[in-house]
Amino acid sequence: MTQTYRIAVIGGDGIGPEVTAAALAVVRAAGVAVEETSFDLGAARFLRDGFVLDDATLETLRGFDAIMLGAVGPAIGDTRIPGGTLERGLLLKMRFGLDLYVNYRPFRGVAGSLAEGCEFAIVRENTEGPYAGEGGFLRRGTPHEIATQGSVNSRFGVERCVRYAFQRAERSAAPKVTLVHKTNVLTFAGDLWSRVVNEVAGEFPGVDVDYQHVDAACIYLVEDPRRYNVIVTDNLFGDILSDLAGAVSGGIGYAASANLNPDRTGASLFEPVHGAAHDIVGRNMANPLAAVSSAVLMLEHLGEEDAARRVSHAVRDFDGDPVALGTSGILENLLERL
Ligand code: IPM
Ligand code: MN
Repeated sequence: MTQTYRIAVIGGDGIGPEVTAAALAVVRAAGVAVEETSFDLGAARFLRDGFVLDDATLETLRGFDAIMLGAVGPAIGDTRIPGGTLERGLLLKMRFGLDLYVNYRPFRGVAGSLAEGCEFAIVRENTEGPYAGEGGFLRRGTPHEIATQGSVNSRFGVERCVRYAFQRAERSAAPKVTLVHKTNVLTFAGDLWSRVVNEVAGEFPGVDVDYQHVDAACIYLVEDPRRYNVIVTDNLFGDILSDLAGAVSGGIGYAASANLNPDRTGASLFEPVHGAAHDIVGRNMANPLAAVSSAVLMLEHLGEEDAARRVSHAVRDFDGDPVALGTSGILENLLERL
């Protein structure tokens, strides 16, 4: 008996709904049955009635088998939404509330990119670090004001993220985990991360371990991305490094992202890294490859390994010109390869 997965779909803004629709079409064509429930969330919704995400909706989302998100955000130049409203109120609220403690971002260098022919992944801690909101103001608005912004690193949080990185690496042909941090300056957090990596490494004798400072890693990602297999790092370093990794491996248009709750106490969330691109909405110009690659991560998470492999190979073998083909042409091209 085949299972029907219940998927919460947050198309969001701009090209978001176009790319999630294409990704769902590919999932279905790969033989996986999905029942989608749409959630109207994002910039357009906020502008209409002020709603971002409440606790009741968050709890509803928790119960799905997975969440697919297209993109959220207003058009460039539209200043009606205070900065951070959707980032913290929607995206981070889901990451924290559903305990999506791993942000898994795989990269495969496309032809012509700096990382051509090279595959690696970033495992980013997704619920702590400087994103946790620790800190505050003292004497705000006065000449003597003080702002602090702490970085939260719990042993529990670091360890579960690091263990996930090792588990991922263990499955690859040349298993290696590279911790990226700044241990020479961030001596407290860096010390905890280093000790945890060394301890967890003991459970995975087949996985090599390496360390780099984050600034050096920025050089190596550009000059020698082949040295990486799985990079594990904290929330903020991972945010920055994954944009750089996207750029060297072919552009953010290809970058997929899985916000994972490996313990499955809440639905995991899958999204392309790119934004809403309001300027090309409704013109058959949106490139759905990153959304489709995010759907591959969703299929893996659901245990649909065979469908995941077929869709992933279709994306890998895609050789058309995305601009010439347009959304529908890319979709056809992928469907032919399944
Ligand atoms: C990302 C984004 C988010 C982040 C923003 C939108 C809060 O840049 O998913 O990488 O910083 O994590
Ligand atoms: Mn980012």
